[in-house]
Amino acid sequence: MAIITPLTEKLGLDVPVLLAPMAGVSGGALAAAVTNAGGFGFVGGGYCDREWLRREMEAAGNTPTGVGFITWALEKDPALIDLVLARRPPAIFLSFGSIGGFAGKIKAAGALLVVQVQSVAEARRAAAEGADVVVAQGTEAGGHGAGRATLPLVPAVVDAVGPIPVVAAGGIADGRGLAAALMLGAAGVLCGTAFFASRESLAHPNAKQAAVAGSGDATIRGSLFDLARGIDWPEPWTMRTLANDFSRQWDADPAGLRDNLAAEQARYAKARDQGDMDVAAVIVGEGVDMVRAIEPAESIVRRIGAEAEILLHRAGCHLSR
Ligand SMILES: Cc1cc2nc3c(=O)[nH]c(=O)nc-3n(C[C@H](O)[C@H](O)[C@H](O)COP(=O)(O)O)c2cc1C
Repeated sequence: MAIITPLTEKLGLDVPVLLAPMAGVSGGALAAAVTNAGGFGFVGGGYCDREWLRREMEAAGNTPTGVGFITWALEKDPALIDLVLARRPPAIFLSFGSIGGFAGKIKAAGALLVVQVQSVAEARRAAAEGADVVVAQGTEAGGHGAGRATLPLVPAVVDAVGPIPVVAAGGIADGRGLAAALMLGAAGVLCGTAFFASRESLAHPNAKQAAVAGSGDATIRGSLFDLARGIDWPEPWTMRTLANDFSRQWDADPAGLRDNLAAEQARYAKARDQGDMDVAAVIVGEGVDMVRAIEPAESIVRRIGAEAEILLHRAGCHLSR
């Protein structure tokens, strides 16, 4: 028995689970592990470091994987897309910005164009600009995102762009989330937080431990950490992370952070390198309650699929005869 949806058919998957292209976290080994387990992995092209991307695409080897880009960052180095398309990936993922300048090239290369959006209006725009799959990302998500919640956003996007397959993202980290997303009309799920602490993830070991110990109760969404990282994220996007000593200090005094920016950026960079998670951000979403161990990505994919299958079988028990 397997779950079959337009997403599994388009990408030839056993389980309708996509690995989010998490910048600095979803490297080639993780992306390949997710694909090999029956899902599909995206390497996190993030802020477009060519050397990093070349290395991680090599690490994925011959396993079919895709690459995800932060679209506004890709506009700074558009040639990067050619470097990736030359390897003939089955899919490319774009998020956070207009896809218009890239869509034609991606589709002409034969790659599936997967576009992540945070609103119904953006979903309509992505569909009009050629998205083959639309990812509806709710505010529960780890990393950057916006304000709408997954539960109402997904069916609204399904209604807006159908028959284009919609993938649900944000707060989905187990089979209950996958089964629920399918009930909302989604063709699958995109998970980041669920894989953050996986064995193959490139996150710092201390960040993985903090995720395992962390709770969705303790996540916040804001821009403090982007300021500390020196990344000028455009509006309306903010980043969800666990709160820590650094965020608590500067949340109460954002002007103070700006006044001490150079010193605080240096402190932040050192903390990130050393794995000091009292200062550096643990970038996870509300689904982190469901991350309870550091385990191979294969186990995570297979568990999400198996749990969802059981729940879908049992779904009929809610009906009276
Ligand atoms: C550590 C981390 C880094 C992320 N980096 C990116 C990124 O570079 N590009 C992107 O499109 N999305 C990024 N995201 C967001 C994901 O694409 C996805 O929407 C999110 O992980 C889904 O919600 P979840 O974390 O609850 O699974 C990131 C998420 C996390 C947790």
